[in-house]
Amino acid sequence: MLLSSLVAQASPLSEQQVQQLQGLVSQLNPIQQAWVSGYLAASAQLAGGQVTAPAVSAANSATLTIVYGSQTGNARHVADGLAALAKAKNIAAKIVDLADYKSSQLKNEQYLVIVTSTYGEGEPPENAVSFYNFLFSKKAPKVPQLKFAVLGLGDTSYEFFCKTAADFDERLAELGGQRLQARADLDVDYDAAATSWNNALISVVEPEFASAPSAEVINWPGQTSAAASQFNKQQPFAAELYTNQKITGRDSTKDVRHIEISLEGSGLTYQPGDALGLYFNNDPALVSELLSLTNLEAAAEVSLANQSLSLAVALTEQLELTQSYPAFVDKYAAATANEALAQLAADKAALRAYLVDRQIIDIVREHPATGGTITAQQLVDALRKQQPRLYSIASSQAEVEDEVNLTVAVVRYDAFGQPHLGGASGFLAERLAEGDKVRVFVEQNNNFRLPANDDTPVLMIGPGTGIAPFRAFLQERDARGASGKNWLVFGNPHFTQDFLYQTELQGYLKQGLLSKLDVAFSRDTAEKVYVQDKLRKHASEVYQWLEQGAHVYICGDANRMAKDVHQALLDIVQQHGNKSAEQAQQYLDELRVAKRYQKDVY
Ligand SMILES: Cc1cc2nc3c(=O)[nH]c(=O)nc-3n(C[C@H](O)[C@H](O)[C@H](O)COP(=O)(O)OP(=O)(O)OC[C@H]3O[C@@H](n4cnc5c(N)ncnc54)[C@H](O)[C@@H]3O)c2cc1C
Ligand SMILES: Cc1cc2nc3c(=O)[nH]c(=O)nc-3n(C[C@H](O)[C@H](O)[C@H](O)COP(=O)(O)O)c2cc1C
Repeated sequence: MLLSSLVAQASPLSEQQVQQLQGLVSQLNPIQQAWVSGYLAASAQLAGGQVTAPAVSAANSATLTIVYGSQTGNARHVADGLAALAKAKNIAAKIVDLADYKSSQLKNEQYLVIVTSTYGEGEPPENAVSFYNFLFSKKAPKVPQLKFAVLGLGDTSYEFFCKTAADFDERLAELGGQRLQARADLDVDYDAAATSWNNALISVVEPEFASAPSAEVINWPGQTSAAASQFNKQQPFAAELYTNQKITGRDSTKDVRHIEISLEGSGLTYQPGDALGLYFNNDPALVSELLSLTNLEAAAEVSLANQSLSLAVALTEQLELTQSYPAFVDKYAAATANEALAQLAADKAALRAYLVDRQIIDIVREHPATGGTITAQQLVDALRKQQPRLYSIASSQAEVEDEVNLTVAVVRYDAFGQPHLGGASGFLAERLAEGDKVRVFVEQNNNFRLPANDDTPVLMIGPGTGIAPFRAFLQERDARGASGKNWLVFGNPHFTQDFLYQTELQGYLKQGLLSKLDVAFSRDTAEKVYVQDKLRKHASEVYQWLEQGAHVYICGDANRMAKDVHQALLDIVQQHGNKSAEQAQQYLDELRVAKRYQKDVY
């Protein structure tokens, strides 16, 4: 019990003694409190009195459990930061991936912090799905013993901003938990706000934990910390581009590149299933046009993250120019005193629709500030910090050693009478020459891993660039001499134009590494055929593989493909396992909990 909430009726003390005690304790730091607690217990024992355990001793053995729901590592890194702060304050803490969290533990938990992102249409990240379902099921226990706090990471461009965090927060309160601190919902550029939220939380929980010299942070269950390299998201490695090769045909509607990057000298290592994070420079032509539309000088000095630099450098290297988002419209409208834009910004739904296919440049083209109404600093303040893009790694180090391969679809489209390129994919495909440097880091993904047992069969469903991690899986299984069967289901529009890594895959099939290769070329037949149709066609075999213990992986498009494939799997399990819809759902849930059903979707 917290001393601030101690009342005389609930203690053997008088009202006046409670007040005196509260007055004294409020002046002590945690180490002094722990010492006084021990001193009083010892002196009571010497006096031969009956001693009841002091309130603080319950907390003494308590642990701050920090769990994270994270798909691309952001929430995991914030949770790691919180665990490090706890450690620095000698608070015993345990950090757990929600995929590994035992739901049955919730009823025993005293202190729980959830850091989570949100995906899809307000859905939990993949690793948090089981815990989320449990919490909202009838099985969820009442948790009157629980003190908790929730931190949300999200993106204000989405309608359901930080919804998963809000859901967790409200549900835990409904189940009887008490909030340690109010929830915060943080946007894409969350670093500073997350650090302050973490600091504030630690100062709230610190007095509740007696100082225990042996307190340590437990990574559960034995997670490995990031690769032993000095390079990470904050400090990326300047890596050399070896190869940029177009692997779709001349007449393809898609431009997909096979990219090879050297990690030599970085100490960076990765496992199949991990992603490569990548920073990029914006297109100089875009920067020039933006400067001219805002009537600003390239050399104008601006301040960004406590650094002084020229406007042109800030726009080229540090700010987001291709992805647009609501806050830009708000700030740009205010800085340029643009009434029409301000009205649009006030209507959230209309604003989201307006932003769907508009990049920053499109907004500024439609609303130029050539009259000199915006300052260089105002423009910088309206733009958000560049976020690195992630790419599923398409190679295994067992095969390529200190190199990393990617499969990148170039975002390229015409809109409003102008050609458009994606920031990172445009940089890699068009502006980075072989031999040039690109800033990269490795983002671990422990929730997309090959089975530890090499005899286990794997079923990989990866249309389009979703093939990337499966190329890595196949290289790895080949190098390990894994005896488990491998089945790949791939899809794209046309056989002749879009069969990514065709020669390699057919070679693997011939060699026997691939036991089965099914391809769905959707535009080659009158009736469109997709990967989910291939699964349905081979439904009984899919079910057999599942029953034989196969691990199932989906990679690629999150919006439609992953949902359609999930539905196909549900139907197959229902039909071939003679199950009800509910039982089929439970079957896949159990596979997910057993880490036999994993997704890397975006
Ligand atoms: C875990 C993870 C793994 C990933 N793996 C891969 C991978 O292996 N290969 C791969 O190619 N990508 C992968 N991606 C996607 C990748 O990270 C980028 O989002 C993608 O390359 C686009 O980034 P960009 O900077 O080129 O475009 P952006 O600058 O982000 O795009 C600019 C704008 O263009 C518009 N836009 C974007 N895409 C389209 C489109 N298809 N059609 C029309 N308009 C569009 C949007 O308005 C967007 O805001 C992955 C993403 C995640 C999260
Ligand atoms: C495909 C996709 C869908 C997303 N959907 C939402 C959403 O509905 N609501 C939201 O607030 N954020 C959404 N986001 C933003 C993420 O929650 C945000 O990038 C977060 O920092 C990711 O954290 P993580 O790396 O821990 O998963 C989405 C991001 C992606 C890539």
